[in-house]
Amino acid sequence: MSEPVIVTDDGGVRTVRINRPEKKNALTQAMYAEMTRALREADASDSIRCVVFAGAPGAFCAGNDIADFLKAAQGGSDLHALGFVEEIARSRTPKVAAVGGVAVGVGTTMLFHCDHVVASVEATFSTPFLKLGLLPEAASTLLAPMRMGYARAFALLAMGRPLSAQDAKDAGIVNAVVEAGQLDAVALQAAWEIAALPPKALAVTRALLRGDLDEILKRITLESSHFRDLLQSDEARVAFMQFLARKK
Ligand code: COA
Repeated sequence: MSEPVIVTDDGGVRTVRINRPEKKNALTQAMYAEMTRALREADASDSIRCVVFAGAPGAFCAGNDIADFLKAAQGGSDLHALGFVEEIARSRTPKVAAVGGVAVGVGTTMLFHCDHVVASVEATFSTPFLKLGLLPEAASTLLAPMRMGYARAFALLAMGRPLSAQDAKDAGIVNAVVEAGQLDAVALQAAWEIAALPPKALAVTRALLRGDLDEILKRITLESSHFRDLLQSDEARVAFMQFLARKK
């Protein structure tokens, strides 16, 4: 069986490919741990200059595995998701995302921590956190209104209205929309372009462009605290069980 997260390095560019297509690339605890490790290693490396997040055809990432949400709700485990979002916010290595197909939940909110996002024409972006009795995470409650304006952020994050690739480009959270067959090549080209920039000048510029990291981390901590509380709520448990039982 192939690995659910495949990490490959090619010169200065590291690709982190989410590879669990049979579950639309929903993220398990082990996958978050692997993605977190890949980011930490990239930061520690002198040679890796850019990380590309990619998915499988038709699915960038369907968000947190809902069976894992249920386990955490029943007290079986903590959520590695919250550690991953903190890591991606802190990580100093520039990041490109290649979004083909669905980007749900953290599949969309992690994009606020990427520096360049390429989407295929089929890509869709949605954050149905409230429908699951949860709240948006990854500092998206801070970053989405800043990036897209409050009206669009509320429709996406609170009402759970999906965005098409073109909507997301119009909202300013996607750089380019390309045919599916071009997705990886266009994203890699952007990654190589970023990797070739003078590293010190890039590091300073990127840090200033991204804004106040302490404020972002504080928001992640606040969201995470509410998230853990809401996970224990009856409305969340019922929503998870409904999703898991929907085909029976
Ligand atoms: N957690 C666990 N399993 C998931 C999943 C998730 N987040 N997303 C998809 N899957 C599983 C489905 O249960 C299904 O498994 P099965 O074949 O064993 O029944 C498989 O992936 C394929 O999904 P399916 O729903 O049949 O594909 P689709 O193309 O019709 O719809 C989605 C794709 C992503 C729109 C839909 O699966 C979905 O809404 N998933 C939940 C997304 C979500 O709420 N994530 C959490 C956000 S906070």
